[in-house]
Amino acid sequence: MKLIEAKDYHEMSMLAAEVILDQIKSKTDSVLGLATGGTVLGTYQQLILDHQRNKTTYQHIKTFNLDEYAGLSKQDENSYHAYMKKHFFDEVNIPSSQTFLPNGEAQDMKAECETYDLKIEELGGIDLQLLGIGQNGHIGFNEPGSSFESNTHLVALEQSTREANARYFDSIEDVPTHAVTMGIASIMKSKKILLLASGIQKSSILYDLFHSDVTNSIPATILINHPDTIIIADQEALSKLHQDERKMFAK
Ligand code: PGA
Repeated sequence: MKLIEAKDYHEMSMLAAEVILDQIKSKTDSVLGLATGGTVLGTYQQLILDHQRNKTTYQHIKTFNLDEYAGLSKQDENSYHAYMKKHFFDEVNIPSSQTFLPNGEAQDMKAECETYDLKIEELGGIDLQLLGIGQNGHIGFNEPGSSFESNTHLVALEQSTREANARYFDSIEDVPTHAVTMGIASIMKSKKILLLASGIQKSSILYDLFHSDVTNSIPATILINHPDTIIIADQEALSKLHQDERKMFAK
C-alpha cells in the first residue's frame, strides 16, 4: 500500500483523477471499477472537466460499479445507477452498453451476482478499481465480518452504514437494509486499486488501517496483501497518523 498525502479534498480529487487518466491513456480500452459516495464525487468532477478541456475519450472504456442498493429501481434517485448517470456517465462519451452495475431488483439475486462476476472476467478483469472506505472499514458494501473469499453477493447493511448514508434519503427508514456488492475476492482481483479518504470522520479508520493486522473485522486491511494499491488521503483523514508514519507509508 502506497500512501499519497493530499492537502485537502480538492487536491485529493485532482490526484485521483490523474491516476485514472494515466490508466485510460496507457490503455484506451481499460476496464474501470467505479465507486459511489461523497468521497469520489470530486474525482468524477475532475474527470468531466478533463473530458471537456482535453477531450479524453471514454469510447472504449468499460466500467463496473462496486455495488447497488437492493430493492431500488434504476430510476430511483437514490440508486447508484442514478448517481453514476448524473455524476459521471451522462457527462462523458461512454456508451451506456459499456457501463455495468449490479441490478438491485433482480428476481434471482444469486444468478445476478454470478453473471456480474462472469461479465467482469469476460471483459478481461478490472484494470483499476476506485474505492472509498466506510467509517467501519468497509470497502464496497463488504461490512465488518465479511469473508475475504467472497465474490459479488447480497449483504445486510450495518446500522452505522445506513446512518452514514441517511443524508441522501428523507429518513433513515428509507435507507435500504440490503445491497448487492462486489465481494472482497472480486475487488482483490483488480490489477490496481485506488482508495480515497477525506475528512476528519475518516481519521480513526485510516489510523486503524495502517496499524491493524489483516482482519475481516476491518475489511480494508486486506488491501495490504494487494501488490498495487494506492491510497490518496487528505490531511484531515490522516490527522491521527504521525508525520514519520505518513512518510514511512509514502515509500
Ligand atoms: P463516502 O462513502 O465516500 O460517502 O464517505 C464511502 C464508503 O462508504 O465506502
